[in-house]
Amino acid sequence: MTDTPLRNLPAWVALGAHHKKIENTHLRQLFAEDPKRGERLVVEDVGIYLDYSKNRITDETLKLLIQVAEQSGLKAHIDAMFAGEKINISENRAVLHVALRAPKGATIVVDGQNVVPEVHAVLNKMSDFANRVRSGAWKGHTGKRIRNIVNVGIGGSDLGPVMAYEALRQYSARDLVFRFVSNVDGTDFAEAVIDLDAEETMFIISSKTFTTLETMTNAHTARDWLLARLRDDSAIAKHFVAVSTNAKEVTKFGIDTANMFGFWDWVGGRYSMDSAIGLSSMIAVGPDNFRAMLAGFHEMDEHFRTTPFERNLPVLMGLLAVWYNDFFDAQTVAILPYEQYLKRFPAYLQQLTMESNGKHVKVDGTQVDTDTGPIYWGEPGTNGQHSFYQLIHQGTRLIPCDFIGFAQTLNPLGRHHDILMANVFAQAEALAFGKTEAEVKAEGTADWLVPHRLFEGNRPSNTILMDRLTPAALGKLVALYEHNVFTQGVIWQIDSFDQWGVELGKVLAQRIVPQLEGADEPKLEHDSSTNALIRLYRKLKGAPLECPVS
Ligand code: F6P
Repeated sequence: MTDTPLRNLPAWVALGAHHKKIENTHLRQLFAEDPKRGERLVVEDVGIYLDYSKNRITDETLKLLIQVAEQSGLKAHIDAMFAGEKINISENRAVLHVALRAPKGATIVVDGQNVVPEVHAVLNKMSDFANRVRSGAWKGHTGKRIRNIVNVGIGGSDLGPVMAYEALRQYSARDLVFRFVSNVDGTDFAEAVIDLDAEETMFIISSKTFTTLETMTNAHTARDWLLARLRDDSAIAKHFVAVSTNAKEVTKFGIDTANMFGFWDWVGGRYSMDSAIGLSSMIAVGPDNFRAMLAGFHEMDEHFRTTPFERNLPVLMGLLAVWYNDFFDAQTVAILPYEQYLKRFPAYLQQLTMESNGKHVKVDGTQVDTDTGPIYWGEPGTNGQHSFYQLIHQGTRLIPCDFIGFAQTLNPLGRHHDILMANVFAQAEALAFGKTEAEVKAEGTADWLVPHRLFEGNRPSNTILMDRLTPAALGKLVALYEHNVFTQGVIWQIDSFDQWGVELGKVLAQRIVPQLEGADEPKLEHDSSTNALIRLYRKLKGAPLECPVS
């Protein structure tokens, strides 16, 4: 990473001057001046067609953005990550999610050891276990086959598994039931198991640290739930497995390490869905489909590592995100998958993007030079069109959008897919080109109504088109965003792989729990607001219910 602050990089300075020149240029003009723009500003590689022509950029913008990447040392940084260097400097760790999907013969060395054989050993153990559960060979304590899989985890130990399960549902074993418990709100657990037979239920306790308050609380509740029904401690061995890096805590909880699937400190929680954290995904779709997903990830890794920046999908997307964030003051990015199976993809990306790049100090501990980490959010289309698109089209804020669509549906049903995809293309077109005053008037609109019906357009978007949502396609898509986030982080000179910002709240919660539970009035030494809220909660929590639940 360069020592020069971002704002002093020659290309960044030039980009600022260039922005002033083109900030008001309309996409209508850019398309009119270059009839081939929509075919030129595209990249087609590794099964992804990225159309980035509807962005507020010129060839000069692209040239300068790529120079920013070069002057930031992006290439050296990519190589450092793939070489297993400890680029997560605040935790002194390598960042090697790319090793999780490296082919068997590859060599990636961390602390003098090739980690690829270990990765494949865990994959083989997962495959064997997944096959036994899927075939019914793995029996529960009473001899019944396992039919229900409950993943207990939170953050990266939940969002990846649940997103992948939903995304690949069409490929999943439909005779198995999958549930995901993450929230420490007891409702999450209660509703997840409400209709499950304990004799047929397996819990996967997924936690990198095996100390996370929410997960451990849910794990203990799961154990109590099971033992209350099966009444024999030895049942744990057949109904609980663990996914973790912490063998000591797993043993302490009572799970035999023979039933533990490991991973390593060089896998960040939000980058772990393709590690053993994906065990529930593998049971759902089978080892072959899981490995096909890993192959998709790997294809994108290789694309990112070897493709020149001008045609590098994650690099281009990362640079565009920086462009809007820092020069147009765009505060958010909307993720709009037109694929129902990707309904949890925006939620998954929220952790990936915001836990990674929500940082205000650089790797050297000084304040960042510009705004970092945009807010990622979104919903599948077309539902979002009938909720928040109004603001994207006519609101006062600029919201760059990523549209994601597939040429083939997994559920061919009459005209549905053509109608769905027509909406992708129509929304991107409407955002970019809008509707002029002349066009609105030509429709016979009364003068007073014209401003209300006007679409100014010039609202940027990317369109990502793939052939079909397969396991490999999902791997490519996730890796595309992982490396997009990495690119942004390198430009901003931040550590995208730590998450110190989540610690304080965890510590304070641990301090407050006994103050809520104790029978005696606690001595409260918080601020006056927190003290008053705790007192009121203690008073209300034991009050009789007006409307008791059954
Ligand atoms: O609170 C943030 C976090 O540390 C995430 O980074 C992580 O994915 C999540 O908690 C869960 O952590 P674990 O897998 O250790 O339970």
